[in-house]
Amino acid sequence: MAIDIQAVKGTQDTLPRDSYKIRFLEQTIADIAIKYGFGEIRTPVFEYTELFSRSVGSTTDVVQKEMYTFEDRAGRSITLRPEGTAGAMRAFLEHGLYNEPMPQKVFYFTSCYRYEKPQAGRLREFHQFGAESFGTESPAADAEIIGLANEVFDFLGIKNLSLQLNSIGCPQCREKYHRALKDYFKIEQSELCGTCVDRLQKNPMRILDCKSPVCSQIAKDAPKMIDYLCEACNDHFDIVQKYLKEMCIEYEINPSIVRGLDYYTKTVFEFVSDEIGAQGTVCGGGRYDGLAEEIGGVHTPSLGFAMGMERLMLLIDAQNIELPREENCNLYIATTGEKASLKAAQIAADLRSEGVFVLFDVVGRSIKAQMKYAGKIGALYTVVIGDDEIKSGQAKLKNMETGDLQDIKVESIADDFSSIAMQDTVEKLSLDSNFDGIDLGSLLGGNL
Ligand code: HAM
Repeated sequence: MAIDIQAVKGTQDTLPRDSYKIRFLEQTIADIAIKYGFGEIRTPVFEYTELFSRSVGSTTDVVQKEMYTFEDRAGRSITLRPEGTAGAMRAFLEHGLYNEPMPQKVFYFTSCYRYEKPQAGRLREFHQFGAESFGTESPAADAEIIGLANEVFDFLGIKNLSLQLNSIGCPQCREKYHRALKDYFKIEQSELCGTCVDRLQKNPMRILDCKSPVCSQIAKDAPKMIDYLCEACNDHFDIVQKYLKEMCIEYEINPSIVRGLDYYTKTVFEFVSDEIGAQGTVCGGGRYDGLAEEIGGVHTPSLGFAMGMERLMLLIDAQNIELPREENCNLYIATTGEKASLKAAQIAADLRSEGVFVLFDVVGRSIKAQMKYAGKIGALYTVVIGDDEIKSGQAKLKNMETGDLQDIKVESIADDFSSIAMQDTVEKLSLDSNFDGIDLGSLLGGNL
């Protein structure tokens, strides 16, 4: 019986025609993160389930409804990571990075798994760029990490994103707040969904991000955490804002931002767009000063954020931002006959070892079909080698853009091709009236 040739619901493939965008984004974003002192961390795609129930929180939607959890063959409960922070913190503690100078700053690109209802911008397998700064209490670190996310968007030329900021305080001020929330929701208890009735006792703040329309309607007028902050949390929040103003980062205070994960304390933030549909939060994060202790480690005040790569791509497409394509094939060698094909293989090997992008026919097409193919893939130059060229030792190199032909010795194609192409590029640039003061060396180095 035939199998279903279909990806699992809520997952998607990235084909070669699009993957250059992801590669560009990952490279560019990593370069920015490194400039801020972050180093890449890679953690396993699955962890013991308890890590997530303890950190993300047992009363959150993520843990209660969305995790991909299974028993391994030895009966241990394992979960595919629904997010990247818990694994990064586990690795920080497990490898004793707290013995190193603080803060320890890490970034990651990870796949994440949540059993949510798929829609535009919401997948069951999705990808995050995340950054975490472990071991600092300072509000300067909050501003720095927000600055990193902001710079990524700026660098990519993304506009119209709103940075929404809030503080959800510390366990001390939250006690008073929880009492106020319980009093508020008790009155409407009969209207709440079953999960939220349970949350009312265990963790009333989680009612605030329930996805049920009735619960979210009731939650609209609930008391706001920002009105219950203790003095220390209030001061922290004020200083974060002072830094953001100094860094010219625009934001708005949104007391409704509580984030859907339990580990947050004090500053929380989201970058939100109204151009990509209902799932407009492209990036979310905040401080999580109690997480390390919550999972059994040493006290390590920390903070971070994660950006959804699929939502970032939606935004890039919505704003028609062109990402640079990778280079085209520099030289396509069209061949007829075995001798010519062997020669082409040798030339290609020589040029490839110099970093030149070369292709030759490995299908057995006619010369006409090979030339059509070279045009289709956007080859910059072509050369035809057949019995005649092998005999005479002479071939014609064609510049596919201008159509110009020039003689080239078959034996020295590998030696001469780069300098001919470079000469053409110099001539083209000098004809271009906009060309002024570009670093020619690096440009040519990058081209060929
Ligand atoms: P989060 O808000 O759950 O936070 O996810 C961060 C980002 O991941 C979201 O803003 C969104 O862009 C993307 N995202 C979340 N769920 C999906 C989904 N089902 N499909 C597509 N994209 C999605 C966290 O994960 C925290 N670990 C962030 C953090 C890091 N906080 C501190 N450090």
